[in-house]
Amino acid sequence: MTYKFISAEEAASFVKNGDVVAFSGFTPAGAAKAVPTAIANRAMLEHNAGKEFKIGVITGASTGVSLDGSLAKADAVLWRTPYQSNSDLRKGINNGQINFFDQHLSHTSQYMRYGFLGKIDLAVVEACDVSDNGEIILTSSCGTISTGCLLADKIIIELNKRHPKNLRGIHDIYVPDLPPFRKEIAIYTPSDKIGKEYVKVDPKKIIGIVETDLPDEVKPFAPSDPLTDTIGNNVAEFLLNELRTNHIPKEFLPLQSGVGNIANAVLGALGRNPEIPDFSMYTEVIQDSVIDLMKEGRIKFASGCSLTVSSECLNSIYSDLSFFHPKLVLRPQELSNNPEVVRRLGVIAMNTAIEVDIFGHVNSTHILGTKIMNGIGGSGDFTRNAYITIYTCPSTTKGGAISTIVPMCSHIDHTEHDSMIFITEQGIADLRGKSPVQRAKEIIEKCAHPDYKEILWDYLKLGGNAHTPHTLTKALNMHVEFNNSGDMRNTKM
Ligand code: COA
Repeated sequence: MTYKFISAEEAASFVKNGDVVAFSGFTPAGAAKAVPTAIANRAMLEHNAGKEFKIGVITGASTGVSLDGSLAKADAVLWRTPYQSNSDLRKGINNGQINFFDQHLSHTSQYMRYGFLGKIDLAVVEACDVSDNGEIILTSSCGTISTGCLLADKIIIELNKRHPKNLRGIHDIYVPDLPPFRKEIAIYTPSDKIGKEYVKVDPKKIIGIVETDLPDEVKPFAPSDPLTDTIGNNVAEFLLNELRTNHIPKEFLPLQSGVGNIANAVLGALGRNPEIPDFSMYTEVIQDSVIDLMKEGRIKFASGCSLTVSSECLNSIYSDLSFFHPKLVLRPQELSNNPEVVRRLGVIAMNTAIEVDIFGHVNSTHILGTKIMNGIGGSGDFTRNAYITIYTCPSTTKGGAISTIVPMCSHIDHTEHDSMIFITEQGIADLRGKSPVQRAKEIIEKCAHPDYKEILWDYLKLGGNAHTPHTLTKALNMHVEFNNSGDMRNTKM
């Protein structure tokens, strides 16, 4: 079959008000760029003409400015799932203008296939190659787009020449059957592949190909600093101790590392520590630090959903694909984050929290209980199912005016039943096998900043004797104090 080459504007003309569009992209890696920007421009024209024009937007995770940024700025987003990190989109969500459904990333594709998100009208997929019989080779991420292509009535391909055609072989595309016919996900080591190198679609559904040459819009990470280095060293020390006490087998276990600056710094610290054996990753996002450690031989293999790396790093991978092909696999997020596989492999999960409370609950998503930051992402997929789950964060933020250790989280994403280890620059709290009061003592003693220890001890004492000694009238006093005076250190319990 020969496909029709069209402009991004022509592609946007296929979209109707109220359509649900599945875009490729997991982080800005592999995200559709030209078509969503053209859809945003179209929306502005429609709005100027007094017409409604908004679409439902499904991706793998967050995306870049050309997708989330341009659609949010054009007020073209009716609803959005499953994750975001763009400041314009975040503003629209926190203003109440955009409905955002924050979801475990391993769930999104099956939600789509179960029909829970309604009909998918169009899939827009970035590819490095497409064959006449409908084999689409993805680029730097997999996300949910294999399911998007399966379900959508129509498909538009952004054929991006920045990504070489010989990426073929790096992806492992597998779409599980629907229950009750679903089988096990047969991944027994991080390097096992169970699917195809391509997304197979009916070529008749491909209504056009838009040629592009646009870079992924991955933001550079902040370089590590003494604070993130201390947190990273604490994580390394904890893992070494687990090795010495045989909690972790001497072969070591695959690591998952979350998103953001702290996660990047933690991984760097682990790589630098000569006592940590060479390791593999079974993770969601592959960041620059993973590639650097792979070049040094410290990381043997990485399974992920996206190559969320700087342009220089991506170019270095593409210029040496024969080195990276045997060491990397990119999978759809329902495989990279699959609870069954995470538990089978014994993944050690390391994620960053916004705040944690003294009884072991974790807030990954909301600032002061109301404003969403990014979303739960894959943190829940890994936290619940990991062999060991670690949450890191600095003990304070905003120049010390906010303690990340609080009496009660202002929003809860992960509960005391899932959390195991909290690590700040102050130290390491091990919550395994401990009651709520024992946990509270461990967290305050080991992880809280000295400026906040007394406030937290006072709160714990207030509760008297109870299994979980909360005082409901005071549980959010630190948050209330920040809203009143701008500094949690002024809190009186
Ligand atoms: N109250 C108010 N603000 C807070 C806060 C708190 N308790 N904790 C963090 N913040 C702010 C920081 O001050 C910073 O603000 P700034 O951007 O204005 O400087 C911002 O949140 C980001 O914090 P930072 O310390 O730079 O952390 P990060 O880049 O490592 O990101 C998360 C941390 C929690 C936002 C990020 O890891 C995330 O979105 N996690 C949820 C999803 C997830 O875990 N995915 C991984 C699964 S694979």
